[in-house]
Amino acid sequence: MKFKAIGNSGISASVIGFGTAGIQETTSETNISDKEIINTIHAAIDKGVNLIDTAPSYGWGRAESVIGRAISDRSDRVIVATKCGVLLDDQRGSFIGVKNGRKTYLSLEPSVIVEEVEASLRRLNRDYIDLLQCHKPSIPPARTPIEETMNCLMNLKKEGKVRAIGISNVSLEELDSYRRAGELDSNQFRYSMLSREADQQQTPFCRKYEISGIAYWCLEQGLLTGSVGPERIFSKDDFRNDVADWLPWFRIENRRRLQGMFSTWNDLTQKYSCSIGNIATAWTLGQPGVTHALLGNKSTQQAISNAYSGSFRLDEEDMKRINADLVGLGPPV
Ligand SMILES: NC(=O)c1ccc[n+]([C@@H]2O[C@H](COP(=O)([O-])OP(=O)(O)OC[C@H]3O[C@@H](n4cnc5c(N)ncnc54)[C@H](OP(=O)(O)O)[C@@H]3O)[C@@H](O)[C@H]2O)c1
Repeated sequence: MKFKAIGNSGISASVIGFGTAGIQETTSETNISDKEIINTIHAAIDKGVNLIDTAPSYGWGRAESVIGRAISDRSDRVIVATKCGVLLDDQRGSFIGVKNGRKTYLSLEPSVIVEEVEASLRRLNRDYIDLLQCHKPSIPPARTPIEETMNCLMNLKKEGKVRAIGISNVSLEELDSYRRAGELDSNQFRYSMLSREADQQQTPFCRKYEISGIAYWCLEQGLLTGSVGPERIFSKDDFRNDVADWLPWFRIENRRRLQGMFSTWNDLTQKYSCSIGNIATAWTLGQPGVTHALLGNKSTQQAISNAYSGSFRLDEEDMKRINADLVGLGPPV
């Protein structure tokens, strides 16, 4: 496993991060049990993954609580990155949408952040958060100025409750404002072979100012593992059944086109003794300005396979060839 610094915090985190957004609020027939999640986290840690990315909103506390239990006997080996800002059934802040029939709000107001951090620490059963990230930018009507939010985060750092400060889903202007207002160590954005908008502004900015670029959705919800062919049927409550409007790569004809491209990569998977998902992740980690890749794992097998992506680099000529294949693939239809 390769490791990279989180900004200038002194923290060294595995380039592969364990993503926990897939953890739902309750266990159900189609949702994995706490025991399975803990086994999956242990499998990743055993393969060298030390970065775990979570948020209070992932399973509304369940993800952080399960992580707390999973790392209780190996806390010193793990870098926990959690977030703040997204609230459930708590009308402080600005309304941002409805999730599973319940209203969600966003607040980056200092007193709310302090409360959230205390709750996260309790759930994680830990004295500090390695990396605290503002989940989304603050918006009107209850918009908190970035300077106020950053001041609060810097105070939490001084108190030893937070070791590094990050942000996520921001515009370039917001990114620069956070950087000017305090010590910004990381920026989390969507990035994959199929989604490279961050190259326009975010990744060059991160490189220039030594801010870690933490990529999410590197596997595009499984599309870039090769396991979502045209024939793949998702379970009834899987959100991927209804995403074609906003994630057009999930349309059957586009899945077929992706599978066609993957079928020409057999020599690559043989050369690196790896899977299509490993190629997609190693490619992402080969992009300038992307330092870490977050991957969601539903099983120990996926965790072990995904951790492998952090152990090798694609040769320059293979990167070039993949880039040419992606240009040939073109946009989704
Ligand atoms: N900052 C933000 O706003 C934000 C937003 C989104 C995500 N994130 C972070 O980024 C992380 C990654 O995103 P994600 O978990 O939503 O999705 P993802 O990593 O793009 O995709 C994960 C899905 O891909 C499939 N998969 C994973 N490994 C596989 C393998 N080795 N072989 C075959 N299939 C595999 C699994 O689904 P199936 O097996 O069911 O196909 C899994 O649930 C999140 O967990 C979260 O920590 C942050």
